[in-house]
Order: sequence, then C-alpha cells, then structure tokens
Amino acid sequence: MDMFVIRGGRRLAGAVAVSGSKNAALPILAATLAVDGSCLLHNVPDLADIRTLAELLGTLQVEVRRTRTGAMQIVHHGDSACVADYELVRKMRAGISVLGPLLGRRGRACVSLPGGCNIGHRPIDLHLKGLAALGAEIRIERGYVIAEADRLHGADIYLGGPCGSTVTGTCNVMTAAVFAEGTTTIEAAACEPEVVDLGQFLISAGARISGLGTPTLRIEGVDRLSGCEHTVIPDRIEAATLMIAGAITRSSVEITHVEPAQLTAVIEKLREIGVGIECRGDALAVDGSGSLTAAECIALPHPALPTDIQAQLTALLSTAEGISIVTDKVFPDRFMHIAELARMGARVRREGASAIISGPARLSGAAVMASDLRASAALVLAGLAADGPSIVRRIYHLDRGYESLETKLRSLGADVQRTRDHADHIPLELADPLTPARPAAPHFATHPSRKKRPA
Ligand code: EPU
Repeated sequence: MDMFVIRGGRRLAGAVAVSGSKNAALPILAATLAVDGSCLLHNVPDLADIRTLAELLGTLQVEVRRTRTGAMQIVHHGDSACVADYELVRKMRAGISVLGPLLGRRGRACVSLPGGCNIGHRPIDLHLKGLAALGAEIRIERGYVIAEADRLHGADIYLGGPCGSTVTGTCNVMTAAVFAEGTTTIEAAACEPEVVDLGQFLISAGARISGLGTPTLRIEGVDRLSGCEHTVIPDRIEAATLMIAGAITRSSVEITHVEPAQLTAVIEKLREIGVGIECRGDALAVDGSGSLTAAECIALPHPALPTDIQAQLTALLSTAEGISIVTDKVFPDRFMHIAELARMGARVRREGASAIISGPARLSGAAVMASDLRASAALVLAGLAADGPSIVRRIYHLDRGYESLETKLRSLGADVQRTRDHADHIPLELADPLTPARPAAPHFATHPSRKKRPA
C-alpha cells in the first residue's frame, strides 16, 4: 500500500492543469454499452476507478483501450453478457451505472448491489423506481439486482429523494429511457454538469434528449445509438481541490483547463472566505494571500456547493479566523475526515450533519489515515498547510479519483512524496514525536501583514 509523505509549510506558485472529470467519464464509459459501434472518448482521466470500470466492461464484451494519443477507444465484441460481478462492483460503486445501459440496450441486467460505503448510506431505490416505471421487472436475488424488459415504454418519472435528486440514478434512468418506446419525462432530475455531459454524449450517439442541466428531462425513444466521438468535461472537483490547495497555503496559483461556470458556488464561497479569484477564460487565478475568515457552507445538489468539496473546505476553514459551520445535506454522514483533521490540530467537532470548526488552528504534521476519496484530499491539503511532516496512509482512496495529484502539487512547489507504507519511510519527527523538530520556516498561516481583500 502507498502513502504520501508531505512536508508542509511551503508556499505554492505556478500553474497546473485539471484532468478530465471522473464522475462524467464513468457513466459515459458505462453508457458505451448501449451504443452500437465504436466510440472514441477524449480527456478520460487515468484513474483506478476508470480502470476498474474498463475491467467490468471487458466482462460485458466491451473492450476499452487507450490509443497512442491517450484517447479511449471502445469496441464491442458481442452483446449477450449482462452480469456485473460483485468482485468488481464492490471496488467501485459507480459499477451500478451499467444497470441502465444494459437494461436499455440488452433487455437484461444483473448487477451486483455495491454494499456499504464510508460516506454513509447509499441506497439505489430511486434508480429502481425509475427503471420500474419504464416497464422493467426488477428483483433482488443473491445480492444482485436483476432487471428485465422485452421493451421499455416512456413514462413520467419523479426522481426526488430525501436528500435531493440522484446523479447516478438520473444517468441510469436517462440512458435506459433512450430506448423506451415513446416519451419519457424525468422530474427532479439531477442537474450536475456530469449528467449534462452524459446527455451530450448520448445525443452525439443519436439520442433525443432535451432539458439537460434542468430538473426536467424529456427523452424521445430511439431504436439504436451509433458510435461517436466525445470529449469529457474537466473535473470541477479536482479544480476546486487545487484552488483550496492555493488558499490553504496562502499562495497564488493558476488552475487551467477548467470550466468556471461549473464552479460558481465554489468560487463565490472561496471569495466570501477571503480568497481572491479571477476568471481568465478557462483558467482561474487564485490568490490566498489575504486573511481568511470563517463561513457557513452547505453542501446541496448542483448548482449549490458540492458535497465532494465539503471535506476540503473543512480543512481550509480550520485555518481561517472564527467559527465556521460546514453542513452536508447530500451525504449527512460524510464526516470521517474530522477525527483525522483533529489529529493535525484542527479544532472541529461534528453536530449531526454539520462540522463546527473553530479557527484559526495552527496545523501540525501528523500520521493520518484516509477513509475515502475526498477525505484523503482534505488530509493532503491539511498536510500542505501543517508545520512539519505528515504521512497520509491508504492513498489508494485518493488514486480512485485524482490523476497524479502528487505530481501536480509538486509542480506547484509542494513537497509531497509517494512511498510504500513501511516503517523505514516514516519521518523521524513522526516516529518519535519528542525528537526536536527540524527548524521550520515561519508559518504562513499566521503572517501578520496580510489583509483581507474585497470579494
Ligand atoms: N439516494 C437515495 N436513493 C437513491 C440514490 C441516492 O436516497 O436511489 C440519496 C443518497 O443516499 C444521497 C443522495 O441521494 O443522500 C445523492 O446521491 P446520488 O445518487 O446523487 O450520489 P451518487 O450518484 O451515488 C455521485 C458521485 C458522488 C457524489 C454524488 C453527489 C459518481 C460516480 N459519484 O454519487 O461522487 O458525491 O453523486 O454529487 O458520480 C466522489 O466523487 O467522491 C463521490 C462520492
């Protein structure tokens, strides 16, 4: 297993490019199951989750290979297989996104239920409700959901749940509905840019979908989809994480290859906290040199603040002046990072679906453990801001969703090394905490001369 060794306290500088979106690429790759003919996908990030889904598609007679230019080519070798195995789906919940494409195109899907998750309860009842409304017969047997239909038919479907709409559920129902006879209307559809990107891909393949990016989708059924070429959108969560890397290290950095319009809520919130942000076409100039103040953040479905950034915001706000509240209304139990951030000196406690943060804390490097993808990112960010070395264990969580994060951070001047998780690689200060620390540079978070800049 790998871990990161981070020597914090360095200011960052320079520009870094964002990769393609994981959460857009996954349902698009799954939807290639529903397309007759070969597809070419550009800007697909090289990530553990993408490789796992490619492996899963391989078991469903769909070959996924990288071309010499880095694009992904998808080639079909048959369409009789319909079983998505537990051993692959348990590694990655997004495996459930083959359910809609298999049912729509092949008339039968047998997909393992993904099981437990570190970010809280994640049912798929809305996916099943939507597919049943399209006429599928659905049963759960031996840990698998089995959905079958000779022919799907258009329906009016409401996909709202207790925590808003469902991103992957909307993707599954929309893709299946592409093949339904007649018209389907999905109300309370997810408006996330990743759902829009899947819709654009399906349209390129011949689907007839309108209303993308709004809560009401209208889908006119077609008989078949044909091969197409598509470029995946940039990863807005990676972009936001890199913006926070600039802010938490009180640095000026430029994040390129982004779509600022997909980051409006994040940009507005960071400005409110005191981070200077300037949009320059497809780049964002981030200036974290002002003093940062507490804020109230509520993660909600798009276009509000994304849940996938609440852990990173919590890390940032632990270094800001005052009491902050970060509430997650999408995954109200997504707070495993709090205890690890506390090990680094953050003063943060949980109250229901909120983290209450008293800042500013002077973060101190520590050995911490990643529990899920975005929690890992929060710990890495805290490590960048901390005095002295940190180790972040179980980095495989991070590798599921960030392409070469350590390389990108190093290109900005951070000291982040990937190494095997082995006693020999533990920095002396962490192996024996009473060892006098190496003299550290003055800590940037408490620099007296920084003034809050106007939003
Ligand atoms: N929900 C239900 N019933 C359902 C489906 C969802 O009650 O049938 C609830 C969930 O329990 C949750 C809320 O609805 O409270 C939203 O869940 P959603 O279905 O939208 O989440 P998802 O599709 O499983 C995707 C992303 C997540 C991201 C969420 C929310 C992918 C592969 N995953 O998950 O990304 O947090 O949307 O935006 O797209 C991540 O990248 O770290 C990550 C977890």
